[in-house]
Amino acid sequence: MNFTPPASQIQQMFDRIAPVYDLLNDWLSLGLHKVWKQITVKMSSPDTASVALDLCCGTGDLTLLLAKRVKKGRVIGVDFSPRLLAVAKEKARRKGYDKIEWLEADVLQLPFPDNSVDCITMGYGLRNVVDIPACLREIWRVLKPGKKAAILDFHQPENNWLAATQQWYLENIVVTAASFFGNRQDYAYIHPSIQRFPNGKQQVAIAKQIGFSQQTHYPLMGGIMGVLVLTK
Ligand SMILES: C[S@@+](CC[C@H](N)C(=O)[O-])C[C@H]1O[C@@H](n2cnc3c(N)ncnc32)[C@H](O)[C@@H]1O
Repeated sequence: MNFTPPASQIQQMFDRIAPVYDLLNDWLSLGLHKVWKQITVKMSSPDTASVALDLCCGTGDLTLLLAKRVKKGRVIGVDFSPRLLAVAKEKARRKGYDKIEWLEADVLQLPFPDNSVDCITMGYGLRNVVDIPACLREIWRVLKPGKKAAILDFHQPENNWLAATQQWYLENIVVTAASFFGNRQDYAYIHPSIQRFPNGKQQVAIAKQIGFSQQTHYPLMGGIMGVLVLTK
């Protein structure tokens, strides 16, 4: 797929992979996604009384990490895939996080007032929304002035050897593993989505235009991964 599919197709794709999503993440990143998610939560600067959103929360890993830090405020996981949200809710229940709120909604139209949120995380979501500037505008709108969003995602590294290794790994190991569960096409979507995703510099330029007061992109793992940290 070399074009961004419509939102309904993306939503159906994520519903389809819900049963295997956590298992494949753990296997295929050798557990490293947990470290990247911890870094992201720290960069979003939550405190104990924050109103914190985890956008495109999926199965809720980042949401649970936020809830570990936000004891007196509110933590809300937002996603448009009911099946991934069901996995997230069950995981939170098992781990005793009963105060997390789960919201089925489109992150391009957040049902929160302007200037009402203290901290936002987003993991592997920005690459999957149909309109990246609209998503960043919505994040800017709901954040309180001076507060932060940290956005984690895959990137295409600048180093050609690393980029080729990333492509080989995604097209062979990841797609082969996913095909055992009948999800070959859904995981074949990852590499083209990384190719069309704006790089760190471009993300910073978009965020600046929207009006964030600070915008920094931190590459991880030689640029295979990155965190965009935005301050309103
Ligand atoms: C790759 S998953 C990431 C899940 C989780 N954040 C993680 O780090 O494991 C991307 C998520 O984005 C969600 N998503 C994509 N576009 C969305 C939108 N416009 N509104 C809400 N959720 C969206 C999908 O349903 C899916 O759960």
